[in-house]
Amino acid sequence: PRLLDLGCGQAEWLLRALAAHPTATADGVDLSGPALALARASAEARGLAGRLALHHRPAAEHTAPYPYDLVLSVGATHAFGGLQGTLDAAARHLAPGGYLLVGEGYWEHPPAPAAVEVMGELADLPGTLDLVTRAGWTPVYGHLSTREELDDYEWSWSGSLAAWALDHPEHPDHAEALAVAAEHRTEWLTTYRPTWGFATLLLRR
Ligand SMILES: C[S@@+](CC[C@H](N)C(=O)[O-])C[C@H]1O[C@@H](n2cnc3c(N)ncnc32)[C@H](O)[C@@H]1O
Repeated sequence: PRLLDLGCGQAEWLLRALAAHPTATADGVDLSGPALALARASAEARGLAGRLALHHRPAAEHTAPYPYDLVLSVGATHAFGGLQGTLDAAARHLAPGGYLLVGEGYWEHPPAPAAVEVMGELADLPGTLDLVTRAGWTPVYGHLSTREELDDYEWSWSGSLAAWALDHPEHPDHAEALAVAAEHRTEWLTTYRPTWGFATLLLRR
């Protein structure tokens, strides 16, 4: 099977899939050079580099001479202007009978205006599924991130950045890293934490 991750980041989804499926090959696409460098290093460390091609380009510009059996895009729908654009792009890349794994935020409760400013316009969960099905997809599984998982994600994000800053007191980016971590933590706690959810949906068409 061939796998494609649009907005793969450090390619953790692809690396786990490749480890579990020894005949699979994968393409990962991302705008971030540092994320792709980490992806490459993990692929090499896990003996998977021969089956993972990484592409440093906007996800919307990815072209391939073959269709994919599984397309993933988790937390990267902004690369296509939102969920609808991501669903359309995935459909173009998918082989007949293939699967799409898409991860997108939604409002679990009506958001404060400041939360919409941070996260953008999102639907609630039924509205999200409605958009998906109207675009011609059938959900065959889904995972709704728990509060514990969302909190873990946020603490890992701001916490690892803060820890890096504390470990590098002489680095020219020390103060900025601490400030960004603190700003993000405050934004998360004061704006979207009470109302934001994240759904990862497995779709067929
Ligand atoms: C929240 S991260 C998710 C990463 C990965 N999908 C995961 O689940 O671990 C979003 C990723 O989308 C990437 N990204 C943002 N805009 C993009 C674009 N236009 N084209 C490709 N990647 C993009 C970012 O660089 C980042 O790595």
